[in-house]
Amino acid sequence: MTGQNALLTLASVGWVAKCAAADLRITADNFSFGGVNFPQLQYLSPNYRHQIIQKVVDSNARVIRLFIRGDANHTDPEPTLGEFDKAMLDRIDDTLAQIYHISKGKVKVIIAPHDAHALRGTEDAPCDAYCKELKGYFLDFYSVDKYRELYKTRLEVFFNHYPSRNFGGRPWSELSEVILGVDVQNQPWANIHPIVAGESWLCIMATYLKDTLGLGKSNIAVITGGISGPQTLERNQNFPDSALECPAVDVIGIHGYFAQKEDFSATAGTPWANLFVPGNTLTARAEKENKLLLVEEWSYMHTGLGLAYKKQAIFDQANALNHRGIPWLYSSLTFRDEGTTSRVSIDRDEASASTAAIAALKNGLTRAETSRSNFNWTTYLSAPSKPLSNLTLIPMNPYIPDRADCLFGCEGYLCDSPDSCSPSLLCKNSVCQVPSESQPGKIADACNSKKPCLSHLSCVDGACQPCMARGTIPPKDFRKTVVYNNPHGNFGQCPLDTASPFQSLPYCRSPPSTFSYSSYSSPSSSSTDENRHESPPLASYPSNPCTNPTHCSASEYCSWGLCVPCSSSPDTPSGCLGTPCRSSNKCKTGFCNAHGRCDYPNKPRKLGNKNNFDTWRSRKGAGWNAAPKGQERGPNKVWDVPVRVAFEGGEKVKETGV
Ligand SMILES: *[C@@H]1O[C@H](CO)[C@@H](O)[C@H](O)[C@H]1NC(C)=O
Ligand SMILES: *[C@@H]1O[C@H](CO)[C@@H](O)[C@H](O)[C@H]1NC(C)=O
Ligand SMILES: *[C@@H]1O[C@H](CO)[C@@H](O)[C@H](O)[C@H]1NC(C)=O
Ligand SMILES: *[C@@H]1O[C@H](CO)[C@@H](O)[C@H](O)[C@H]1NC(C)=O
Repeated sequence: MTGQNALLTLASVGWVAKCAAADLRITADNFSFGGVNFPQLQYLSPNYRHQIIQKVVDSNARVIRLFIRGDANHTDPEPTLGEFDKAMLDRIDDTLAQIYHISKGKVKVIIAPHDAHALRGTEDAPCDAYCKELKGYFLDFYSVDKYRELYKTRLEVFFNHYPSRNFGGRPWSELSEVILGVDVQNQPWANIHPIVAGESWLCIMATYLKDTLGLGKSNIAVITGGISGPQTLERNQNFPDSALECPAVDVIGIHGYFAQKEDFSATAGTPWANLFVPGNTLTARAEKENKLLLVEEWSYMHTGLGLAYKKQAIFDQANALNHRGIPWLYSSLTFRDEGTTSRVSIDRDEASASTAAIAALKNGLTRAETSRSNFNWTTYLSAPSKPLSNLTLIPMNPYIPDRADCLFGCEGYLCDSPDSCSPSLLCKNSVCQVPSESQPGKIADACNSKKPCLSHLSCVDGACQPCMARGTIPPKDFRKTVVYNNPHGNFGQCPLDTASPFQSLPYCRSPPSTFSYSSYSSPSSSSTDENRHESPPLASYPSNPCTNPTHCSASEYCSWGLCVPCSSSPDTPSGCLGTPCRSSNKCKTGFCNAHGRCDYPNKPRKLGNKNNFDTWRSRKGAGWNAAPKGQERGPNKVWDVPVRVAFEGGEKVKETGV
């Protein structure tokens, strides 16, 4: 039996009743929320639409994102450039009114007034009037004045000229009771990263929406809409400087599609947990620039593991985003069949609801509604009617299939205490991970009173001992026990150390229920004084050993060989991840980034650098050569020179330069 299987049998979730507060748990009083994308909602018949919206409202979604675009059976509301079909806008307006009335104002809408995929006829978006005029040179949409003016007209007609027939003739730009925000476009520059042409378009359109059309005056958010398409962990597709530094941008919309790793080395939620570590390059900068972060699209991605894992992958992602306090919208809801797509049908009847993917999504939405956030959304959305959760534990995923290799505490799983991972792993930044080579205190490492083991391991005979995860005694059917209506989880009881005298290994150590730092006198933060202090007493708190900051979580720093929480003393040490800095030697993480925040202890992350462009070049071939000299590198510079790159079928370069 492998360690993972042992965990499976034990259903380990740590020693629940006595757990210390979760590492990196968000305690701010700001709320988060969840919602859904519903691209074709406006095309449903009014009665059916009513039923569907009622179901969405009942699912505890707070936001529905609508797309203004055509589909196979409907034309775009701008069938000819500069000419608009009022009937199509009426459908959107009716949909807004239904959402507003059915939800009694609780659910709001985000509008994507155009889809960049319609410029190329990709991803189910029919080639629209812009696309026909652009003839494949779709980047001209962003850089050529003619198209910029045409697009401004479209936005002006939608948000200022069209008189709402359901909201007393008012323009949409004033309907903040039902419209939360407006995207500049869905996925501008779709799939092109870094942006090669027309980057100034972004801030020009954001400013046009916010100031000229008056969204800002009405407290309707301007959202970036998922710039350059899917976000990856390595790059900054969705948050280039041009977005973070544009004053008219209120919300950075992030679109990411992450699959569960088939070798079980990461859940579908692991990338989200890693992307939004509080205080990291992205979250600290967003706070500094006064931007809100919204995961505007995420999905189940089908893998070789099969559909049995769909619910798990949905719950894992929602759970990770809820834990990080980042609001999110699932992409997407449908009334059609799901197949192996990312779609989730809201229309499954009650009988099948507990087995259908919608069950996992509803569970995540319900938890999102009471999750806490470090970001304040009250300008755009009312606080939930329920009190915010004080949950200190990360909810277990009740949808892991029986056949899965691993239920809890495996690599990439969320964790909330040192002993909630498989014994050989380290709970760092709320994710179970393989400790680095240099991590002190691993199983079998030498230890003594001055060189402790990882906090869940014991030092015996000079070596850190293997141990067995202390599982809870599983209820008869723990899946049922932990699903709904029990946000605090009912995990059963923990076995005592004496419960199984014949087991070959001792249980891993659990953290004490409460731990106080009062007996611990914080060493002076001035590094030059360090040698003059005695080391603090060991084991006064559940702390891991370290020799440098990479060994500690983002909420800790390495002091005297131990990871110490950043907020452990009244004189909160500056220099932890995300805190303002002027120079690197002021950062306990070791590195002050270009935006004046202490950043990851590792070397600076390369975002949108030359390497990224090389990748793009090699993929897109000759397209690269079309970039004017001096414009080739990185998205940091706002590029405004037209680049003639035509894409055929969305992928192949047809013609470049001119
Ligand atoms: C709420 O979020 C804002 C940032 O948007 C932050 O400054 C504030 O401290 C948060 N509120 C609380 C109570 O933490
Ligand atoms: C959020 O901001 C609003 C004003 O913009 C303020 O009244 C409210 O107290 C803030 N909420 C939190 C939790 O900080
Ligand atoms: C278009 O209409 C046909 C016939 O009603 C229907 O079968 C098809 O699913 C529709 N397509 C879309 C994308 O709505
Ligand atoms: C969370 O804690 C706060 C302060 O202790 C309390 O006012 C609130 O009611 C608690 N919320 C829940 C859901 O228990």
